[in-house]
Amino acid sequence: MSTKKTIAIIGASGNMGSAISKSLSKGNYRLLLCSDGQGKVEAVIADIKNSNPAADVESAECSAQASWEADIIISAVPYAAEKEVAAKIKEVANQKIVISIANPLNETYNGLVTAADTSAAEELQRLLPNSKVIKAFNTTFAADFATPVIDGKQVDAFIAGDDEEALQTVSEVVSVAGFSPIVAGDLSVSRTLENMQLLLIQLGMKYNYNWLAGWKILHN
Ligand SMILES: NC(=O)c1ccc[n+]([C@@H]2O[C@H](COP(=O)([O-])OP(=O)(O)OC[C@H]3O[C@@H](n4cnc5c(N)ncnc54)[C@H](OP(=O)(O)O)[C@@H]3O)[C@@H](O)[C@H]2O)c1
Repeated sequence: MSTKKTIAIIGASGNMGSAISKSLSKGNYRLLLCSDGQGKVEAVIADIKNSNPAADVESAECSAQASWEADIIISAVPYAAEKEVAAKIKEVANQKIVISIANPLNETYNGLVTAADTSAAEELQRLLPNSKVIKAFNTTFAADFATPVIDGKQVDAFIAGDDEEALQTVSEVVSVAGFSPIVAGDLSVSRTLENMQLLLIQLGMKYNYNWLAGWKILHN
């Protein structure tokens, strides 16, 4: 049996942070939850414990404390907050996996705020040069985590990064969360993954889909 890893979830009170926390609480992980507002993650922890009393989940005082204790850090904050979060965790995130889930959407959801030759994940890697930034969970909607299934098949979750071992570790995390992990390429592929989600959001608005499960690659 593999050693239990500790995962820090920064932004755990949000839509994605709470959905990721709930899904990963079923796995062999110790979860440390933190957010910007004091006490906001307590409701998420109570919800998790209510359905799974054995879950190894607790709140952490702040993102630096959580990241210091963690093997894997998930940045579940808006893109605009990542600079501030990166500054707080930089010293304690050395050599650790940091998962970037951000979609750097503009205010009207008709474009990205990042330049065409970069991505939110690459910007986070620049801010955390000694960490192993991996893109994951940006193509999955928060609402999908409860039932990540399309037509009876597990929803795909694309992953991108430069470190093979880290990609493998994050594939396991994605799998425990209930999705089918697909390693799409190196970290620069995050540009495509972030644009994929922009497209999906735009199509959802254009055709007024009331529920969108996400992506599924069909193959023989
Ligand atoms: N929603 C989706 O379906 C979806 C899908 C894929 C990817 N994403 C990405 O996931 C990320 C989170 O989205 P969301 O919808 O979950 O947003 P959200 O519901 O607004 O949650 C944001 C979380 O970030 C925390 N936060 C904000 N500023 C912070 C700071 N400076 N330091 C520490 N924590 C901070 C908030 O804490 P407080 O509540 O305490 O302020 C909250 O826990 C975004 O980057 C988004 O692009 C979202």
